[in-house]
Amino acid sequence: MKLKDQVAIVTGGARGNGLAIAKTLAGEGCHVVLADICRDIDTVPYPLATPEALGKAVKELEALGVRSLGVECDVRSAASVKGMVDRVKEEFGKIDILVNNAGVTSLVPVVDMDEATWDDTLDTHLKGTFLCCHYVVPHMIEAHYGKVVSISSVGGQRGFGMGAHYCAAKHGILGFTKSLAMEVADHNINVNAVCPGTVWTAMMQGLAEYFGMDQGEAKEQFCEGHLFKDREITPEDVAQAVLWLCLPESRCVTGSMITVDSGWTAAAG
Ligand SMILES: NC(=O)c1ccc[n+]([C@@H]2O[C@H](COP(=O)([O-])OP(=O)(O)OC[C@H]3O[C@@H](n4cnc5c(N)ncnc54)[C@H](O)[C@@H]3O)[C@@H](O)[C@H]2O)c1
Repeated sequence: MKLKDQVAIVTGGARGNGLAIAKTLAGEGCHVVLADICRDIDTVPYPLATPEALGKAVKELEALGVRSLGVECDVRSAASVKGMVDRVKEEFGKIDILVNNAGVTSLVPVVDMDEATWDDTLDTHLKGTFLCCHYVVPHMIEAHYGKVVSISSVGGQRGFGMGAHYCAAKHGILGFTKSLAMEVADHNINVNAVCPGTVWTAMMQGLAEYFGMDQGEAKEQFCEGHLFKDREITPEDVAQAVLWLCLPESRCVTGSMITVDSGWTAAAG
């Protein structure tokens, strides 16, 4: 158990990549708080997680023998994030790991995009990452220990048509990661990012459904850039990269990223 009795917050942890990350950390003995909005956002064209999904996820983590807590939290809101972080500090006493994973997406050309779609996307990914770090990092500084991992994307390294809002946010997370890493290195805090390629979660399934696409054909299309045609990137593949960035083995890695994209960006370069 490499993370025994550490405490992690995983945002957007009720399902998908976030839940896989939470379970992988829990598998190493880490107590995990899942912070998730658990309600829909008007500008997002597919359903987000529900309170029931959050409750089920907490039970799955507890079954792994660790403590878990589900908190309904909207990472776009400073008050909501502060309330969540205060509660975690009160109930668990410390925060060793923060995984900024909450995210939304949509496909809209810039000329057709309304302000609310831009704001909700940027606020969830980028402002959410800032707010969570703003409230969690002081506790890490006090403890002189911490690991921050933010989920960016292949969309943080290249553009996607109809994804300017998403790509702007994911590029922003990488700039934020490098800058925060510089600010907190003296406090023994590592700050890194993970950039997944296409993972067939509810996010991607929901997008395909919204556009009336056949799931199989949509998956093939969205995974077209992946070099390995005989395997699919799973949430567990993403989670393994996050785990490594939380382990002592990665102690000299900060301000950096791991790309789990089946070679997509290498080929695109
Ligand atoms: N699925 C992919 O292909 C892919 C690729 C690259 C990066 N990512 C990133 O991985 C992360 C997880 O995505 P996923 O694929 O598991 O999607 P998902 O929709 O299954 O999970 C996202 C979770 O975030 C929660 N959430 C959304 N807005 C929130 C908010 N404002 N506050 C708190 N929680 C909120 C949702 O309720 C949901 O549980 C996202 O940051 C996403 O951009 C996904």
